[in-house]
Amino acid sequence: MATSRPLSSSSWRRSAMAMAMVVVLAGSVTGARGQLRMGFYDKSCPGVERLVGAFVRQHVDRVPTVAAALLRLHFHDCFVRGCDASVLLNSTAGGVAEKDAPPNLTLRGFDFVDRVKALVEEACPGVVSCADVLALAARDAVAAIGGPSWRVPTGRRDGTVSSMQEALDEIPKPSMSFKQLTDLFATKGLGVRDLVWLSGAHTIGIAHCSSFADRLYGHPGAGAGNDTTDPTLDAAYAANLRRRKCRAPSGGFAEDAVVEMDPGSHLTFDLGYYRALRKHRCLLQSDAALLTDPAARADVESVAGGPDEVFFQLFARSMATLGTVQVKTGAEGEIRRNCAVVNSPSN
Ligand code: HEM
Repeated sequence: MATSRPLSSSSWRRSAMAMAMVVVLAGSVTGARGQLRMGFYDKSCPGVERLVGAFVRQHVDRVPTVAAALLRLHFHDCFVRGCDASVLLNSTAGGVAEKDAPPNLTLRGFDFVDRVKALVEEACPGVVSCADVLALAARDAVAAIGGPSWRVPTGRRDGTVSSMQEALDEIPKPSMSFKQLTDLFATKGLGVRDLVWLSGAHTIGIAHCSSFADRLYGHPGAGAGNDTTDPTLDAAYAANLRRRKCRAPSGGFAEDAVVEMDPGSHLTFDLGYYRALRKHRCLLQSDAALLTDPAARADVESVAGGPDEVFFQLFARSMATLGTVQVKTGAEGEIRRNCAVVNSPSN
């Protein structure tokens, strides 16, 4: 029978310290994520979620491209300093903001978020954060174009710092390998499968030809000669991009031309992305990277077979996790009145 020996005072101190560290670490994890809760504004701003939902649905019905804009904005927000609306802040004399970092120059939807926030401010001044407005609007916009919905606990606070350099360091680059992507996602508490399912967001929206130019021209993986297209890109698809979609009227390469991420259904949230991906018809190298890992590739193959609901559930679960990354809660940050500028001390 095992007998328990009384702890010496030094080992007691060690285990007490270890226990305290566990509590502190657990506290910092739950502190970061745990204070969000469903219906956070039920008393302070009742009806705010319905207000946001109705406005978003009404506009997305008319301009469905808004959905992709909001979804990407929310993702880029959460990857830098957590989901704290730092991506919405303007640059100031004190520093260049995230919004002006190269990977964010193609973000859209800032005006739309401002409009939703203005509506919310009218109903409940100074109560609802820009970070929550963005998280709710992104969720409702995806649902409005036929995608899934997910739980968005609220109570995020807005950050007061926004740095171009941090956006450069933390936003994933389209040229990244599978390992680079999974390493970066891991720093946000997101796993390999979150990467696979969240990449499914590329079933909607557009990309500029400049974002995948190196897959069409001068790709290091291609052999010698004139044809330097990425060999992992479907040849007919690549030819169509080179000859038509990304061709300037003058005959040169049209950097600013835009191409649908999921040809044929870029306005509908569906399995088109995975079905195109398995045929090597995806625009970004970071999309193609999913096929370079056997387990991720198997996930892509299996979800592409359908039905939609399987992907929807997996995407929704990963979105719910993304929305809690490094959030500020409680007394941290502030509730910005104007999403583009921090509150002045007199506010
Ligand atoms: C895995 C790493 C990712 C990389 C490297 C990446 C990169 C990109 C790039 C380069 C574009 C095209 C930008 C342009 O040229 O205009 C784009 C578009 C987009 N991305 Fe991602 N992305 C990633 C993951 C995600 C995730 C996780 C989401 C959302 C959950 C997302 C949502 C979108 C959407 C919706 C668009 C279309 C935007 C529009 O229509 O304006 N992306 N992404």
